Amino acid sequence: MRSLIIGGTSGLGLELAKILRDQGDEVIITGRKNPEERGLQFQRLDLDLGEQLRSVIDTFVSALPEISRLIYCAGFYQEGNITELEPQSISKMLDVSLNAPIWFTRELLQNQGTLKEYIAITSTVQEVPREREIIYSAGKAGFAQFANSLSLDPRVKKVMVVIPGGMKTRFWQATKHDIATFNDPTWVAKQITDALAIDFEYAKVRILRNPPRTEVVETR
Ligand SMILES: NC(=O)c1ccc[n+]([C@@H]2O[C@H](COP(=O)([O-])OP(=O)(O)OC[C@H]3O[C@@H](n4cnc5c(N)ncnc54)[C@H](OP(=O)(O)O)[C@@H]3O)[C@@H](O)[C@H]2O)c1
Repeated sequence: MRSLIIGGTSGLGLELAKILRDQGDEVIITGRKNPEERGLQFQRLDLDLGEQLRSVIDTFVSALPEISRLIYCAGFYQEGNITELEPQSISKMLDVSLNAPIWFTRELLQNQGTLKEYIAITSTVQEVPREREIIYSAGKAGFAQFANSLSLDPRVKKVMVVIPGGMKTRFWQATKHDIATFNDPTWVAKQITDALAIDFEYAKVRILRNPPRTEVVETR
């Protein structure tokens, strides 16, 4: 398989990349900082680009070889209620969490016609309301339902929506959150790759913490 991991340079995306590489996949990772990890092909890609986002993704996808597995893992933490957040911050969050995966999916399917596996990394905020993560939660919930609807498209063979709880990653680095009980991203990545072995067209998988546990909530 050839896997493309958007947001594969750090945290959960990087752990997924390493597991898939060790399983024999050719793995392309994107982000802004190259982790210099053995055997992973890094391609720099900014995602909070406003009006240029669609054409940048179009150009990026046009240069790709055929992809069998797309993992959309990019995301960042943002805190503020709906009036505290500046318009530019709101646009950036919507670009990274919702607009970019939509354009990626569209361009990839237009270019190659089919896609074997599609993995959408969302968050428990898509199910649990948080006043001060309001745009992040909107982006993740929108992305989850986008992927659910995509699973009805016969060109995409397998769709998994992953709903992780807290993980010990760079995501939290600029915050004061206590992440002591958060999950190890290596363990979370293993839960995801193990769940991929299940036979499904659509699966919704929660990976919760304290205690760490995996719930396959829905399959069809
Ligand atoms: N950590 C948690 O507690 C937690 C909980 C639930 C869900 N999640 C979700 O899990 C996913 C992975 O997060 P993580 O915890 O592994 O965080 P992370 O270590 O900070 O990784 C985030 C990834 O997204 C990329 N990214 C972020 N903003 C970007 C931008 N503007 N342009 C291009 N790439 C960008 C980063 O690339 P560069 O840094 O190289 O730019 C990196 O590869 C995210 O979707 C996050 O929302 C995280």
